[in-house]
Amino acid sequence: MSKDLAPLLRPFACKSLNLANRVAMAPMTRMRSPGYIPDDAVAGYYRRRAEGGVGLIVTEGTTVNHVAANGYEQVPAFHGEALAGWQAVVDAVHEAGGSIVPQLWHVGGIRRPGTGPDKDVPGYSPSGCHAPGKCKGHAMSKQDIDDVIRAFAEGARDAKALGFDGVEIHGAHGYLIDQFFWAGTNLRDDEYGGSLDNRGRFAREIIAAVRAEVGEDFAIILRFSQWKQQDYSARLVETPDELAQFLAPLVEAGVDIFHCSQRRFWEPEFDGSDLNLAGWVKKLTGKPTMSVGSVGLDGDFIGNAQTGMGGDAGVSDIDELVERMARDEFDLIAVGRALLQDPQWLQKMREGRVEELAPYDKSALATLS
Ligand SMILES: Cc1cc2nc3c(=O)[nH]c(=O)nc-3n(C[C@H](O)[C@H](O)[C@H](O)COP(=O)(O)O)c2cc1C
Repeated sequence: MSKDLAPLLRPFACKSLNLANRVAMAPMTRMRSPGYIPDDAVAGYYRRRAEGGVGLIVTEGTTVNHVAANGYEQVPAFHGEALAGWQAVVDAVHEAGGSIVPQLWHVGGIRRPGTGPDKDVPGYSPSGCHAPGKCKGHAMSKQDIDDVIRAFAEGARDAKALGFDGVEIHGAHGYLIDQFFWAGTNLRDDEYGGSLDNRGRFAREIIAAVRAEVGEDFAIILRFSQWKQQDYSARLVETPDELAQFLAPLVEAGVDIFHCSQRRFWEPEFDGSDLNLAGWVKKLTGKPTMSVGSVGLDGDFIGNAQTGMGGDAGVSDIDELVERMARDEFDLIAVGRALLQDPQWLQKMREGRVEELAPYDKSALATLS
C-alpha cells in the first residue's frame, strides 16, 4: 500500500503553467499519427490522461519544420496541416481540465535515409555522427544550424498560438540537441564544438530564439539527460561543478524548468549525496525541475523508436518518490509507461486501488487506449 500522495498533489505554477498537481505524463512517441497528423484517436488518448487527473501532459515528441527533423513513420509533425490536429488535442485536454505542452523534437543523426517523410534526406547532426565512431550522415553547416533554430522558434510560436500551456524542447537521449551537447557525437572545431560551453551553444541559441518568439511569460521546459539511447552509461558531466557550468548559460538563455531524464529516478547523480539529477539541477540553478524514471514500476525503460520501446515491468509502490517530493528535492515528476498502460494510474494510486494496476507490457503500444 502506498503512502498518502499529498506531496505529489500540491498545485504548481510557473509562468504560463498552472498545474493542479505535480504529476506529468512523460513524452512518449506512439507513431500513430497517420500522415504525420494527430487525429481524433490521438486527441482521445491525451484526453483520457487529463481525465485521469495528471497535472501536465508532455506530448510525444513532435517534429519541427526542418527537412530532417523526423525519422519515423506516423510521428506527428508540428507544422503545416498537423497544427489543426494539435488544436483538437489541446482543446480536448483543456476541456478535461488538464494542461499540456508539446515536446518539440529534431531527431538529428538518428534519422535513417529511407524513412519518412522525406525519404532521401540523410540524418543531420553536428559532425555527421549518430553515435561515437558512426559517422555516415550529414554534418550540419552554419546555415543548417540557423534553419533548425528558426524551426524550433516557429514551433514554439505556434504552440503558444494554439493555446498550449508552455513548450518543452527535447534536448535529451542522444537526438539532435544532445548530439551537440555530447562530445562523443560533436567533433566540430567551430564555435559549436570543443568545450562544454561551445557544445551548449546550439541549445542556447534555440532557447533564446524560442524566448524571443513566445515572450517572457510562456514557460519553456528543457529536457536533457546524461544517458543516451546510443549508450546508457554516457555522461555529459562528471561533477556538480561541471553540471553548474553546463546549466548556467541555459538558464541565462531562458529555460524556466529543467526536465532531467533518468531511467531510475532514485539513483544519486554524484557520489557523496543522494540527490538525483533533478535534485542537483534544482540546487544548482534555483529553477524548478522535473524528474522521471521507472515511477510505479520495478523495471527500467529500454529501447528507442527504431528498436521499439520496451521495458516491461511489474507494479511497484511510490513511497520513495513521495518522500523525495515531500522534501522538495524536485518539483514535478513525469510518469511514462505506467500512464501509457493505464490512463487512470494516478486516480488508482490516489485511491489506493493498487491491485487494479496492471504491469507494463509493451503490447500496450499496439493501441492508443
Ligand atoms: C513508448 C515510449 C516512447 C517514448 N518516447 C519519448 C519521446 O518521444 N521523447 C522523450 O523525451 N522520451 C520518450 N520516452 C522516454 C519517456 O519519456 C521516459 O523518460 C521513460 O519511459 C522513463 O519513464 P518511465 O520509466 O516512467 O517509463 C519514451 C518512452 C516510451 C516507453
